Amino acid sequence: MNWQAKWIKPIRPMGDVASVFERDFDINKIIKDAKLIITALGIYEAKLNGKRISDYVLAPGWTAYKKRLQYQEYDITEDIQERNKLSVTVGKGWYRSPMSGDEKILRELQERPCGLIAQIELTYEDGEKKIIGTDDTWTVSESEIRFSEIYDGEVCDARFKPEHQESVEVFDGPSETLIPQEGEKVIEQERLTTASIITTPNGERVIDFGQEITGYVEITVDAKSGEEIKLSHGEVLDEIGNFYNANYRSAKAELCYTCTEGVQTYHPRLTFYGFRYVRIDKFPRGVENAKPENFVAIAVYSDIKRTGYVDSSHPLLNKFFDNVIWGQKDNFLDIPTDCPQRDERLGWTGDVQAFIRAAAYNYDVEKFFEKWLNCLKAEQLEDGYVGHMIPDTWQLDWGSCAWGDVATICPWEVYRAYGNERILKNQFESMKKWLGYIANHTKEKDLWIGWNHFGDWLGLDAKEGERTGGSDKDLLASAYYAYSTEIVVKTGKIIGEDVSEYEELYERIVKAFQKKFTTYKTQTECVIAAHFRVAKDCQAVADQLAQMIKDVGMKLQTGFVGTPYLMHVLSDYGHTDIAYSLLLREEYPSWLYQVTKGATTTWEHWDGIKEDGSFWDTNMNSFNHYAYGAVIDWVYGVACGIKAADPGYSKVRIAPHPDHRLDWMKATLNTRNGIVHSEWKKQDGGWRYEITTPVETQIVIGGKQYNVNKGTYYFFEKNT
Ligand code: BGC
Repeated sequence: MNWQAKWIKPIRPMGDVASVFERDFDINKIIKDAKLIITALGIYEAKLNGKRISDYVLAPGWTAYKKRLQYQEYDITEDIQERNKLSVTVGKGWYRSPMSGDEKILRELQERPCGLIAQIELTYEDGEKKIIGTDDTWTVSESEIRFSEIYDGEVCDARFKPEHQESVEVFDGPSETLIPQEGEKVIEQERLTTASIITTPNGERVIDFGQEITGYVEITVDAKSGEEIKLSHGEVLDEIGNFYNANYRSAKAELCYTCTEGVQTYHPRLTFYGFRYVRIDKFPRGVENAKPENFVAIAVYSDIKRTGYVDSSHPLLNKFFDNVIWGQKDNFLDIPTDCPQRDERLGWTGDVQAFIRAAAYNYDVEKFFEKWLNCLKAEQLEDGYVGHMIPDTWQLDWGSCAWGDVATICPWEVYRAYGNERILKNQFESMKKWLGYIANHTKEKDLWIGWNHFGDWLGLDAKEGERTGGSDKDLLASAYYAYSTEIVVKTGKIIGEDVSEYEELYERIVKAFQKKFTTYKTQTECVIAAHFRVAKDCQAVADQLAQMIKDVGMKLQTGFVGTPYLMHVLSDYGHTDIAYSLLLREEYPSWLYQVTKGATTTWEHWDGIKEDGSFWDTNMNSFNHYAYGAVIDWVYGVACGIKAADPGYSKVRIAPHPDHRLDWMKATLNTRNGIVHSEWKKQDGGWRYEITTPVETQIVIGGKQYNVNKGTYYFFEKNT
């Protein structure tokens, strides 16, 4: 990209107020083509002649800004007139919002300038070209957005008109780090019209949109100039039905809007919220005057395309599936986040490594992850350290197993789903560096011993008052070390690299592991040792897991580390019936328990809302964390049985596992090679299967294997 523009900023720092940069330009010949190439330090919204350019919101998106800043290119030919005004509003966004607890980083954030770089490229019919780039001829003014920030929300005074235009200052902004748009653009998606406005027991007026989303509320109101609207966002009501958002912690998540005269429509433009409920704190002529038709909730997330669908004869289960899909949409706003509402909304790596396989069934996430993994690679330290979150907002200096292993797991899963070897090539060095980090931070060679980890985060076997489950961190870390090494070996072979050194390492890790860890005391320890095949006798460990589950009354106790693989270990080793018992369980702890408690997304904690209606905690209790939704990959891959036999589903294996507690179940997957469908239902004292595949497929039913080609196939299996 040939930039003929300079970074500009207001001469006078505007603090919390979003700045509007402007440039007028005239056209005196016929235009053939006009483009705007643009990015900002902050979030920008560009308008040409008062009309918003593109449906891309929250641009330029979130990347590891110190290393990579995306710019966007828009075709503006259609909107060019004789006399034109380009105005670009720039707010703090992820770039300048205080999204870290570290004082030093916060100070640095405050000193960051809000900046803009843009160029309009005009090509006339006669072939002449003209470039208008940002420079000191542009002007800037304060905008009606008086405050805008990721956690706290937005304050807009629609009456505000700047008294005059101010000069801008050219400054030395990032140049080497500018990259063209890599990820999916972020756009406005579903529009939820208000379900209802309720009056809560304490007399507050609260809108219930019926679904937790990530996005914002659009208000349409007929008001007098100066009248105010104030909205507060929340996920759930408390046990007596009052508005609640103490679990957002320091994030204020408010919208304050001062009206101008007449009918007007407004929604926040430079921030977003995670919410289902909205408390109306102020409204023209009193909160009782607010009507459902004044509000629409707009979901905002990356433009990912849905590829997977699962459905069954079980309404609660179907609601859970729906919640998993919403959990993904709500947390796929440009980067994969832990949650969209409290003062985090960060690219926590442990969460995404748990959910990635499910994510790639539900949606086409190839491009989404390619961009994010490039950020991971860019931010990885020389010693191999992978941040706990990408972008690495907190910049801590200790890598954790499972969280850091995202460096191997994530590219591998993307490769499995889409057959994209480029992603493996791109990430191979980063994968190896992560293994190097482990090797240099262990007390015992060929294992990962004596280091700090998140462990089986939120596992139910945690000691009173602790958040880390009872599993041995050394055991988990060493098993992940083996798994990451195995991925490096497989990756190297695919892309033609010599990995003999890693093959030997893998052998040594497994040997050392079996020597060191001979007993397993938690469900998660069993899950991880069997799933990563590092235990000496995986069948025995899986049997022990099944027994442990039965011993505690058919209950799971796993946290972020054990849960994604729990069901796979059970069904891989002959305990599918127990897996179904866990899946269909409605009492706490279970996936369906939260559905019985009214969940519309997946919860961070198995007991976010306890049986008595009280909350697990105020401090760490999100109702929109996707990690436990990972179980949906078992539904696609085992219950309905659809797996990629070759990467990208160029060959498929379909081995469904029906269960008598359900009448039917089905999954459809739109792969790069066509649509795969698998369905089973109870019929005539047995199971009837319908399977459609677009490619060479191995079907396994009732222990028999059928090798078929493209087509639809029906089977009947008599119950024995
Ligand atoms: C986040 C998690 C994350 C964890 C790390 C939390 O605050 O919300 O989902 O993985 O910290 O332990």
